[in-house]
Amino acid sequence: RSLANPSLQKGSLPVIAHRGASGFAPENTIAAFDLAVEMHADYIELDVQMTKDGQLVVIHDTSINRTSANAPDETVYVRDLSFASLHYYDVGAAYDSVYEGERVPLLEDVIKRYKGKTKFLIELKSPELYDGIEEAIAEMLERNELANVLHAEVILQSFNFGSVAYLSQLLPHVPLGVLTSRSADLTNRKLDKICSYADYVNAHYTNVTQDDTLVGRIHARGMRIMPWTVRAPGEVQPLIRAGVDGIITDYPNYVK
Ligand code: G3P
Ligand code: CA
Repeated sequence: RSLANPSLQKGSLPVIAHRGASGFAPENTIAAFDLAVEMHADYIELDVQMTKDGQLVVIHDTSINRTSANAPDETVYVRDLSFASLHYYDVGAAYDSVYEGERVPLLEDVIKRYKGKTKFLIELKSPELYDGIEEAIAEMLERNELANVLHAEVILQSFNFGSVAYLSQLLPHVPLGVLTSRSADLTNRKLDKICSYADYVNAHYTNVTQDDTLVGRIHARGMRIMPWTVRAPGEVQPLIRAGVDGIITDYPNYVK
């Protein structure tokens, strides 16, 4: 894969608003995405899962409880709800009462609302729980003319490497990333494998500051790195000095 050749990079460092501008508004809501666009974020990052009736929805946890103000005591899983039932839950008021009424958005509605205004870093969250989610995303991107663009308006990513490898077959022209956890050991051997199907290694930001060879080893394989997740202003400059290709942050205003 060579969709993210670092030598082609131009312009200023991309800022990616994590779950929208989630430092200021409820994560993965229209309010947080609107604010990210107002703050001139280059990308909005969002998490995608699938309802029982096959709708692609934007929510981080596999259950609705943490982010919903009107959740019951028992755990309610996204995969067990129809989109209509998911719509019952208020995902704004748990953050702040001024956001009361926010609902879990459909991925396609988010794409239509912001296409041309910002770009999208879409994370397939726990895709192993959702049969057919890769195909559903591919079809949605094709429907919205986002599967064949030269300038990446969409990047797909996941912690599930198998899902990313599968996406590389379904969507040969869409840049793809693997997400790695804080404890990941990113050996050259692992990077050699990853670069056969992915364009980005989006590592935890502490890996970059602990391993001063990491960015270079990723670039040497034709890939880029956009570390996650910056939540303090002091974390930005060390990452820029290390040569990262983008910064995923809850606070887009820290970088812009
Ligand atoms: O984009 C990276 C980041 O979103 C991964 O972690 O838990 O916030 O989805 P998480
Ligand atoms: Ca995410």
